[in-house]
Amino acid sequence: MADHGNDTSARAAGSGPRNGVSGEGSAAPALSRRRLLGTAGAAGAAGLAVGASGGVLGMTMAGGEARAALATVGSTAAAFHGRHQSGITTPLQARGHLIAFDLAPGAGRKQAAALLRRWSRTAEELMAGRAPGDDTGVALDAGPSSLTVTFGFGRTFFDRTGLEDRRPAALEPLPDFSSDELDRARGDGDLWVQIGANDALVAFHALRALQKDAGGTARLRWQMTGFNRSPGATSRPMTARNLMGQIDGTRNPRPEEKDFDERIFVRPGGEPAWMAGGSYAVVRRIRMLLDDWEEVPVERQEQVIGRRKSDGAPLSGGTETTPMDLEKRDAGGRPVIPANAHARIASPETNGGAAMLRRPFSYHDGFREDGSPDAGLLFVCWQADPLKGFIPVQRKLDRGDALSRFIRHEASGLYAVPGGCEPGEYVGQRLFEG
Ligand code: HEM
Repeated sequence: MADHGNDTSARAAGSGPRNGVSGEGSAAPALSRRRLLGTAGAAGAAGLAVGASGGVLGMTMAGGEARAALATVGSTAAAFHGRHQSGITTPLQARGHLIAFDLAPGAGRKQAAALLRRWSRTAEELMAGRAPGDDTGVALDAGPSSLTVTFGFGRTFFDRTGLEDRRPAALEPLPDFSSDELDRARGDGDLWVQIGANDALVAFHALRALQKDAGGTARLRWQMTGFNRSPGATSRPMTARNLMGQIDGTRNPRPEEKDFDERIFVRPGGEPAWMAGGSYAVVRRIRMLLDDWEEVPVERQEQVIGRRKSDGAPLSGGTETTPMDLEKRDAGGRPVIPANAHARIASPETNGGAAMLRRPFSYHDGFREDGSPDAGLLFVCWQADPLKGFIPVQRKLDRGDALSRFIRHEASGLYAVPGGCEPGEYVGQRLFEG
């Protein structure tokens, strides 16, 4: 069984002033807590004192101020500490921000290390549902809402900080792909931060707190905002849908698979040593040509992917989780999953085993001059080595993917995301001090 560090340890929120829960150890399971609060609500009894640990979980704050109870969505928290950073194997959140910063002129290794220390402290506080010192109050009455904050280093970071000798070989620039239409101003960057939360205000709150922490050390380079379906919006848990309406993420590597860690995380003893437990994130802003796509009949759309739109099952038959039968042919001898179907071309079976964990957000940034939506996928994928994940797969997709007609890659970044940290440490410490 793979060890996923901290990422599967979502739990009910701990104590803290921001989520209105007082008392050490008040992290009761979300369900029992919701039931208890439901009981309080039904009785109309603000101030009902409950809690397995003896903490006060009711609706009255110190000073008698009444606050609404947190629902499960708000009260769930991801752990900050652990072998891996959170936000990689954490379930997709409803809201996301991707942000890149460049170090300010004059800021070097020392200032960068101090920034990572500040950012780590802020992330730890916010992920536990606690407000930072000079809080804006934006998320005052919300719980942590599964907030995750993930930090990474871009290739240029190492030149700016004199740490060239510690730059991972895996940060070699991505190759140019023939279909790229990249806006360089919205790509790369010295530092990269991924924020995810199941509440938009909680996510924005974190974004602003981290931007303030950057102070004079780092300046915003680009920022993108994305979304996924809200927890509880569907009657049965299912893989995410993207803005083309497809079920997306079905064939992702799964933590229970024995080679999961090897594919997604840098192993202990890997190169460079400070990246042990870390992963490489490839970020692509991919606009979808939705006006064109939506004119295509569903049967044709399904041929483009190789899977049914309604339930994600492969065109070769079965349910969403049935393996694709790439050999199956129709009565006319043609492959049932077309030769240029996206899922066929991208599958590990046709790429020497190359695999990655895709964890995207959808985005919608209004409409373009021609009236078409500026919308698509903030594609984020994770792998232990981009040469065994994104690069070979994208090379192949670039040559013959039926989906290419309906998408445009508009921005690109590649980041080294170090492993997680233990209490008392900060993210990236082994890079600076190892
Ligand atoms: C807007 C762009 C994209 C869309 C809409 C899209 C959509 C999909 C869909 C619907 C599937 C089938 C279900 C699944 O297994 O998740 C899929 C599979 C997959 N996609 Fe994409 N994709 C996009 C871009 C990419 C890119 C850029 C890559 C990597 C270079 C990629 C890699 C994969 C992989 C590895 C699979 C799994 C194939 C398999 O093992 O069956 N996709 N994609």
